[in-house]
Amino acid sequence: MIDEILRKEHLSREEIAALLSIEGEEDTRRLFQRAYAVKRGHVGTAVYFRGLIELGNVCGKDCFYCGIRRGNSSLERYMMTREEILDAAELALNWGYGSVVLQAGEDRSACFSDFIEDVIAGIGGRFGGALGVTLSLGEQDDETYRRWFAAGAHRYLLRIETSDSGLYGRFHPEDHSFERRLRCLAALKETGYQVGTGVMIGLPGQTAEHLAGDVLFFNKIDADMIGMGPYIPHSDTPMGKDCVPFSPEERLNLALRMIAVTRIVLKDVNIASTTALQALSDTGRELGLLAGANVIMPNLTGMKYRGGYRLYDGKPGIDENAAAFRERLETRIRDIGEYVGYGLRGDSPHYGKRVRGDAGRGN
Ligand code: 5AD
Repeated sequence: MIDEILRKEHLSREEIAALLSIEGEEDTRRLFQRAYAVKRGHVGTAVYFRGLIELGNVCGKDCFYCGIRRGNSSLERYMMTREEILDAAELALNWGYGSVVLQAGEDRSACFSDFIEDVIAGIGGRFGGALGVTLSLGEQDDETYRRWFAAGAHRYLLRIETSDSGLYGRFHPEDHSFERRLRCLAALKETGYQVGTGVMIGLPGQTAEHLAGDVLFFNKIDADMIGMGPYIPHSDTPMGKDCVPFSPEERLNLALRMIAVTRIVLKDVNIASTTALQALSDTGRELGLLAGANVIMPNLTGMKYRGGYRLYDGKPGIDENAAAFRERLETRIRDIGEYVGYGLRGDSPHYGKRVRGDAGRGN
């Protein structure tokens, strides 16, 4: 049955849901093996590092699951200075990371967009284009997206969180709009960014069918990059008080199957092995690579700010500095037979094909 599905060129929602529901060890091994073969064939086995700079935790959003939501008053808010951000970017460059990811809570003020524009230009000015710049700064207006692109950013990550609008409505307050999120994703693509999206996995009420819909959604919007991870409760959030229907182990395994299936269906995109995987297992990120992911985002945020960017309980790296993490990670990547694509941008091959007009996956 599994083999039959894995041999098919195009998968239906039911077939994707069946793969996501695999339980036995042997079937799981076959799924990951297939995903790994697709990864090797379409993106190779280099792991690309992106230096993650969590530059601020001020957030206008109030998502029921997120630790830096506006309503969490037990949190000290911070914003890194331009100099601190450029220094973190320099660390990325010195360590051979091809690009940085600037991530923060969502701030739609003019002052924030000016600041980011200046930082992007500063990275270009100081490092002469040697460093790629990815943004993960939430929903902004089209003009802001354009200005940041013109300043030198070329990738943007904006998770849809769940592609089911009903489910989305359960995890966000009423003034958060699913349609607006979709419009932002379209605007980003229109502007010329390589566009990344993704979901949380193992949310209360989320089924394999929902997740299968998410994979088809990624395909439909022609995403270039995918970042997904297990949902992990945060005790100071409204959802943190509810019980989670899946155990951490189940959520980890479901997230790994989700990576594998996304690789099989989307083929030539970049897929991140995210920090949240590591929160559930010490070897979570390596397992993500073996299930089909090819990007890792080591955290370069200064130690004094790490505690302020706790999206969920038990977020790893709060007390581990970037140098120690890098060394450990590199050894582990070599141990699984892969290598780090140092000094390379590692753009999503899908993006190249998309802009040349031959990206059709057909699914
Ligand atoms: N568990 C897992 N991921 C979370 N995020 C926010 N809160 C949580 C949580 N409790 C993720 C969201 C967001 C990204 C920056 O972090 O998917 O897009």
